Amino acid sequence: MFKPSKTNIISGERMTIVEIFFSPSGTTQKVADHIAGNFDGKKENCNLLIYNGEKELESDDVAIVAMPVFAGRIPKTARERLSKIKANDTPAIAVVNYGNAHVSDSLLELVELLKENEFNVIAAASTVSHHSIFDGVAVGRPDSSDLEKIDEFSKRCMEKIESEESLSCEIPGNRPYVDYKQLPFVIGCDETLCAFCYDCVSICPEQAIAEDDPIETDLDSCSRCTACISICPEDARSFIGDAFEAKKPEFEKANAERKEPEFYL
Ligand SMILES: Cc1cc2nc3c(=O)[nH]c(=O)nc-3n(C[C@H](O)[C@H](O)[C@H](O)COP(=O)(O)O)c2cc1C
Ligand code: SF4
Ligand code: SF4
Repeated sequence: MFKPSKTNIISGERMTIVEIFFSPSGTTQKVADHIAGNFDGKKENCNLLIYNGEKELESDDVAIVAMPVFAGRIPKTARERLSKIKANDTPAIAVVNYGNAHVSDSLLELVELLKENEFNVIAAASTVSHHSIFDGVAVGRPDSSDLEKIDEFSKRCMEKIESEESLSCEIPGNRPYVDYKQLPFVIGCDETLCAFCYDCVSICPEQAIAEDDPIETDLDSCSRCTACISICPEDARSFIGDAFEAKKPEFEKANAERKEPEFYL
């Protein structure tokens, strides 16, 4: 049970809670927001879906760094963008958010990348959310049971920051990390639904959608991140094709059993 500290540096005015996330379909941000909501102090967002610049954090900031799991890794573009964010022994909570299939090496990868960039990783978690490709998996998650566990974890993180402890648990995963794998599925756009608002063009982190023609997607550069599907106000974009339709029921059956979030302190 979390006990409020007498020397509550968490509510110190100088402290900024910096949420750093890459969240194409929104659930990773939801988890990061939920953790941040447990902390007092000024909040700042660094959304790596759109931000691709340098940044330096101070030692009295607290970072919540949340990434989705893509084929057992953190997304390549998110990794490249996160590499430009440097810290100064800044306490960090590392979170990977996955679709009830496999975490593989992603949490180890995130923790190691943060340490390379001078973050002081104090805690880590893998959380489960609605699968952004196979939408029959982990429907409705994170749910109230997940969020309760995340609240409890957040409070334990506060205690660790106050007592200036670092991460002491070992993070599961292997080195070398599993190879990056591009999913073979096709993202399509239904011309009859598209309203040519160009929101998908602006959000795409891979510049894979033609600026002058949102119907065209360059599948060689597309990472299948799902940001364009989520943002489209007309539901014009989706996974299509025989390979996807064949895989969907098989994948949903294989990953139907509920997995629980895991916390490392
Ligand atoms: C390209 C891609 C690959 C994925 N690979 C995995 C995976 O290896 N394991 C898993 O459990 N979920 C996987 N997922 C599901 C996402 O990790 C999960 O839905 C995540 O919560 C999405 O985060 P977001 O809502 O912030 O985009 C994948 C999703 C995408 C788009
Ligand atoms: S086109 Fe591909 S990379 Fe671009 S937002 Fe859509 S799914 Fe992501
Ligand atoms: S976001 Fe949807 S409606 Fe807007 S241009 Fe893209 S596909 Fe068309």
